[in-house]
Amino acid sequence: MPFKSLGDESATMTRFFPLHPPPPRAMDRYAVIGKPIQHSKSPLIHQAFAQATGQVLTYEKIEGTLGQFAATVDRFRAEGGLGLNVTVPFKTDACAYATDLAESARAAGAANALKFEGDLCLAQNFDGVGLVRDIVHNLGHAVQGKRVLLLGAGGATRGAILPLLAEAPARLFVANRTVDKAMDLVGFFHDQGASTQVLEGGGYPDLHSDAFDIVINATSASLTADLPPLPVTALDANGLAYDMVYGKGLTPFLQLAQRSNVRHLADGVGMLVEQAAEAFAWWRGVRPDTQPVIRQLTVPLV
Ligand code: ATR
Repeated sequence: MPFKSLGDESATMTRFFPLHPPPPRAMDRYAVIGKPIQHSKSPLIHQAFAQATGQVLTYEKIEGTLGQFAATVDRFRAEGGLGLNVTVPFKTDACAYATDLAESARAAGAANALKFEGDLCLAQNFDGVGLVRDIVHNLGHAVQGKRVLLLGAGGATRGAILPLLAEAPARLFVANRTVDKAMDLVGFFHDQGASTQVLEGGGYPDLHSDAFDIVINATSASLTADLPPLPVTALDANGLAYDMVYGKGLTPFLQLAQRSNVRHLADGVGMLVEQAAEAFAWWRGVRPDTQPVIRQLTVPLV
């Protein structure tokens, strides 16, 4: 019998006209989990990314329950969920749940993105890298060789330290109201090899009258309209004052910077969108353009 070549018409017919069409595939499913979650912008951001990149997926909100994180995630996986964003207060639970921690999640002791691959649960923390992308790429402030001040010594600061150090600042000072927390945090990174010349910690009075090119408010003070006890001398007029909160207009910290004639003020909307883009690229293998979404979510700083 003659061998049928690929170009043979009858072979092509059997190849391209199956008797039964394949069943429709369930849509790839993602979500954000937190408590409270109703005001989360993540569904809007990821749906905009999916539309812009032609990715077919669903993205929903899950209101978590304290003490039930693992059970909720198990159920989401059993229903076919492929990945989760994780927000307050479950970021440390996500770290404990994961089977494989990226360096960013291990250093932060917290994860904000999970990806499920069979029995594996991979964890990342994209908050710090999102912050740095926003400052360097979107706002145009190089960190390299600059004096950087981080206010606060909680989870937000912990996640920002390695990505900031990777940009080679001249100085990175962590100032906190509770001095021991700043010293413990900085000591943790010194033990991992961070330079004691570059990375320093202390209380607000330890800033003396030193000035910084980039001052980042990573405290939760803006959420309660409070102001960290920051000496105005810390703010260089040609520098950048960055508040990690978003959508709150001029926070007390940004108002202080404005009164001190700091030229560049920013809130955390770009950080939010950039960390989402990192997760999207990690899950889908496609990097979305962040600018249209940042423009859409920006609340004027007035
Ligand atoms: P997150 O995970 O968002 O960083 P956190 O771990 O509760 O939240 O940390 C909150 C940080 O904001 C802490 O560094 C806290 O300072 P203390 O360690 O001294 O409590 C800081 N913070 C909150 N309110 C503040 C305020 N009014 N002034 C100065 N720092 C404040």
